[in-house]
Amino acid sequence: MNDTTPQAEPSAPDTPDQDAQGEQAPRRAIKSFVVRAGRMGTGQIKALAELGPRFVLPFKPETLDCPAVFGRQAPVVLEIGFGMGGATAQIAQSLPDHDFIGCEVHEPGVGALLKLIGEQDIPNIRIFQHDAVEVLEHMIPPGSLAGIHIFFPDPWHKKRHNKRRLIQSPFVAKLVQHLRPGGYLHCATDWQPYAEQMLEVLSAEPLLENTASGFAEKPAYRPLTKFENRGLKLGHGVWDLVFRKR
Ligand SMILES: C[S@@+](CC[C@H](N)C(=O)[O-])C[C@H]1O[C@@H](n2cnc3c(N)ncnc32)[C@H](O)[C@@H]1O
Repeated sequence: MNDTTPQAEPSAPDTPDQDAQGEQAPRRAIKSFVVRAGRMGTGQIKALAELGPRFVLPFKPETLDCPAVFGRQAPVVLEIGFGMGGATAQIAQSLPDHDFIGCEVHEPGVGALLKLIGEQDIPNIRIFQHDAVEVLEHMIPPGSLAGIHIFFPDPWHKKRHNKRRLIQSPFVAKLVQHLRPGGYLHCATDWQPYAEQMLEVLSAEPLLENTASGFAEKPAYRPLTKFENRGLKLGHGVWDLVFRKR
């Protein structure tokens, strides 16, 4: 969402900070998002207050006990950047034997998904309102995930912003570490240059194998997402990629 609407320049620097004495401060990590102020609807505010305590998990740098969190042993799928959560809710309902952890930094999106969880009584979703990169590194047990969904990640169109894209080799290697053998990574984008980058990066990861020759057919479980719908109206194509851990 971030790269298609007018916005202030991203604030995270890509050069080391210097303090007044000229010493170099540690390099700040480049983030894949900019947190924007968004208007919260009354339903979203109510859902955050009433359902947040049960369904939003606090970020802590310690390993998450998924069976304890969900109250059962089931395959766990991580979603990075669920936006307003419509697709997340639909997928969780259509796959009741799976548990879903959704990460999103945009608060109205968290409120929107909580509202759907409440309205549709969806038990198998938990949310982190936090940077998914940190959730993955600090909280998700290595080798534990049955799947990872990254649907329409911010395309960061401008060349100087390309470094903010999520799908780059070092991060993909981390994603793979957290998949169980046979676990899948499903990405989708409506931005062709990013689709090509995804195909190149995922194909080059030795622990992944493509389930298709090139781009994949859209798997039946993935509904149209809000962002995808916007892209389609602008005449964009859509590319899905589904890779499996060897
Ligand atoms: C372009 S939107 C797509 C949303 C949704 N998947 C869809 O298809 O409608 C990308 C979303 O990813 C979120 N995001 C980007 N980087 C993130 C990160 N590191 N952790 C959590 N959320 C992130 C953004 O806040 C934004 O809502």
